[in-house]
Amino acid sequence: MKKIPTGIPGFDELVGGGFNERSVNLIAAGPGCGKTLLCMQYLWNGVSKYDEPGLFISFEENIEDLKKDANAMGWHFDEYERHNKIKFVYFHPYEVRDIHRELERLITSIGAKRVVIDSTSVYGMTLETTFEVRKGLFDLTLILKRLGCVSLLTTEVPEGGGVSKLSRFGVEEFLADSIVLITFESMGGEFSRSLIIRKMRRTKNDDDIHPLEISSHGLKVHSLQ
Ligand SMILES: Nc1ncnc2c1ncn2[C@@H]1O[C@H](COP(=O)(O)OP(=O)(O)O)[C@@H](O)[C@H]1O
Ligand SMILES: [Mg+2]
Repeated sequence: MKKIPTGIPGFDELVGGGFNERSVNLIAAGPGCGKTLLCMQYLWNGVSKYDEPGLFISFEENIEDLKKDANAMGWHFDEYERHNKIKFVYFHPYEVRDIHRELERLITSIGAKRVVIDSTSVYGMTLETTFEVRKGLFDLTLILKRLGCVSLLTTEVPEGGGVSKLSRFGVEEFLADSIVLITFESMGGEFSRSLIIRKMRRTKNDDDIHPLEISSHGLKVHSLQ
């Protein structure tokens, strides 16, 4: 099976080379864990190293703030955006619109191979019933797969939910082909982040807990101490 490398140091070797082709992958973590940065790094490497166009749909942060964070990491998307290789689009969560159709239009407009939706928690929040949330997320994954994208969906893990709860709505993990869980906890008085691959379909993945470092160059996954 073809693997799509993230280019994130230390990550791809945990999952047999990268994410699966035509897959929807969940990045689950609490706030401040690095979900948004991980997604931007995935798109940055995609466009700058692998020549794969990328689309970032943000339901949370505005695009200006995202770009500021990216530039601070040395990921200068603007030039690629001018050449239609990258698109950052803010979706106002409560603005009524046909998100599914718009997503499809945006993907096709730049031939996006890598897609990020940040976050499904905010998207789902705008839907009224559990049924609508499930259907909305299910339809999103169908579109992303039909168009042949390799997508990252972020989800907020409820604080204090432990590892028993992996997503905001409890359905995202069943729709996803893989789950990457980031935790942020106190170890010996110091806070540190860890990354775990909770599942990856059709892949023998590493299932250890790895220290995750964030620096001014982005994320780096370390092997076990
Ligand atoms: N240059 C840096 N060095 C170290 N940590 C950083 C740096 N830039 C950002 N961070 C960390 O990354 C976190 C933000 O990550 P982000 O991807 O926005 O989290 P999430 O999307 O999960 O809420 C910040 O809380 C900060 O701790
Ligand atoms: Mg975020």
